[in-house]
Amino acid sequence: MSKRTEKKNKKKNRKDTEGWRSAKTSDRHELYELSVQNVESEIDFADHVWERLRGRTARTLREDFCGTFAAACEWIRRRDDNTAIGVDLDEEVLAWGRERNLPVLDDDQRARLEILQKDVRDSGATGIETVLAMNFSYFLFKTRDGLRTYFESVYRDLADDGILICDAYGGSDSYTEMEEERHLDGFTYVWDQSHYNPVNNDVVNHIHFRFPDGSEMTEAFTYQWRLWSLSEIRELLEEAGFRNVTVWWEGTEEDSGEGDGEFEPTDVGEACPGWIAYFTAEK
Ligand SMILES: C[S@@+](CC[C@H](N)C(=O)[O-])C[C@H]1O[C@@H](n2cnc3c(N)ncnc32)[C@H](O)[C@@H]1O
Repeated sequence: MSKRTEKKNKKKNRKDTEGWRSAKTSDRHELYELSVQNVESEIDFADHVWERLRGRTARTLREDFCGTFAAACEWIRRRDDNTAIGVDLDEEVLAWGRERNLPVLDDDQRARLEILQKDVRDSGATGIETVLAMNFSYFLFKTRDGLRTYFESVYRDLADDGILICDAYGGSDSYTEMEEERHLDGFTYVWDQSHYNPVNNDVVNHIHFRFPDGSEMTEAFTYQWRLWSLSEIRELLEEAGFRNVTVWWEGTEEDSGEGDGEFEPTDVGEACPGWIAYFTAEK
């Protein structure tokens, strides 16, 4: 290619990327919802669990660490008599949710949703059928006492037949300092496991977003967690009073060998490099 054509193409490429996402024009919460969350499948899973364990669906849901409360909104949309409460400490993320996620609900749906800027351990929202704690948020409690105290508060706040549903991640890759990229529509999502301390299992993970124009939203989100094992979590749930603490493991697609999005109860997982599992814990 002649220098001239190259230059012309560069100019053309520049023009083509006009209106594309860039670090300057992007909103980190919007990109988070697009890249990390899949609230439809979370709520599908909650319904699946309730049908399996209780032979019916639940009506009341509390989304702990709710952020933009997207799962609570999905719960509200799912059935006309569903009610939801979202709980998060951070006014900034709640304000984003109020601005972006509330307007797409109609008046009746909005009336069935309550948002509380409170600590999940002391929200005052009780008598709840399902507490949902997703995207590993409870990993921020780094001691056994701290995590047990959270689980005890959920146990206290649940209805008599209530169920806690939460997720966990692990696998050999989770003990490695590494970056993983996923190319999405108009931007790249980067999961950066930047620090792991084998002495106490402390991890620091960042989410960055990269854009076609070469710009980057660095450390859009940062998580300082303890990488809990499934057996530690199970023990603490049981110590908090829960019974029938169950791990749900993801099935495998035959062709790709990847997870198939279907989770079933199990006592035996697989030693794969990266996995996500669900817990259900019954009151
Ligand atoms: C990883 S984000 C989770 C967002 C959302 N649950 C999801 O599934 O993507 C963690 C959220 O927990 C909130 N948070 C941290 N500690 C909290 C606490 N003690 N009580 C309530 N919210 C808390 C933070 O403000 C943040 O919005």
